[in-house]
Amino acid sequence: MDQLNGKCAVVTGAGSGIGQALAHAFAAVGMRVAIADVQADALHDTEAQLRSTGATVIAVTVDVSNANAVHEFAARVEREFDGADVVCNNAGVFAGGLTWDRPVADFEWVMGVNFYGILHGIQAFVPGMIERGRPGHIVNTISAAGLFASAYSAPYTASKFAALGLTECLAGELASAGAPIGVTALCPGAVKTGIASSDRNRPAATATEMSPESEFVDRMLDENTDRGMPPAQAAAMVVDAVRSNRYLQLTGDGYATALRVRVDELLAGDLPSLPPFD
Ligand SMILES: NC(=O)c1ccc[n+]([C@@H]2O[C@H](COP(=O)([O-])OP(=O)(O)OC[C@H]3O[C@@H](n4cnc5c(N)ncnc54)[C@H](O)[C@@H]3O)[C@@H](O)[C@H]2O)c1
Repeated sequence: MDQLNGKCAVVTGAGSGIGQALAHAFAAVGMRVAIADVQADALHDTEAQLRSTGATVIAVTVDVSNANAVHEFAARVEREFDGADVVCNNAGVFAGGLTWDRPVADFEWVMGVNFYGILHGIQAFVPGMIERGRPGHIVNTISAAGLFASAYSAPYTASKFAALGLTECLAGELASAGAPIGVTALCPGAVKTGIASSDRNRPAATATEMSPESEFVDRMLDENTDRGMPPAQAAAMVVDAVRSNRYLQLTGDGYATALRVRVDELLAGDLPSLPPFD
């Protein structure tokens, strides 16, 4: 899909980090942008930034784990922007700790945003895109954690493996239906964003006590993402992936080698090693 100017891009989790950078990147190539986030003040900051560049914007407070809210957002995009052309299901949160120790509530919260959030985005936007028949693209933000499982991060890793499986099914189904809609699974390494403080948007009703292991892994994530790539660099890779219809978008060369090593280790019957998070 190389013709982006004048089309509509939808971005969830646009109040911060990669989502905010995606909204700017798509606006910069002349797209109208429909942005959503659960954190209203952050969303409206992004909206103001975009408007100051002259972009045409819709900003809606949406919890992507709520199917009805995502469907209402899609209906508004259809009414006001004649439907979406590029949809970035990007909102995500992190929780970690020991698999046998963390409350199920941690898994439910993370799966609700990282897996069901993407499913809701697909179900709310893709049928209309198929019906309109225009060229389109779905970008699901997964993670290197959708390809490599790291200890102390089961809620996040499980949600990202599930989201990658979902994304691959979607891509296969759109191809067999002959729909002119491409799919990209964005699997970034470390990006300098607010992901290590995901708890800021955790609903109070789902709150759990931290454990030494969950505090440890949050600290590691904070240190690693602080050294990560600027979000704008990851967003530029996504615009290129949409234009060139690339399915898997990694953000670092090391992960290509690590994927080959992983397959060899698995085929040897071994527990795969974990590549550096960079
Ligand atoms: N930063 C990294 O190193 C990294 C690496 C791999 C993957 N990712 C993925 O990138 C995506 C974006 O995260 P980020 O790193 O930019 O973090 P971020 O915290 O800066 O941005 C995430 C945004 O999602 C929003 N959000 C959280 N829960 C939501 C919900 N229920 N509904 C709607 N919006 C919600 C937050 O308010 C925030 O604005 C996530 O899916 C994350 O898993 C990040």
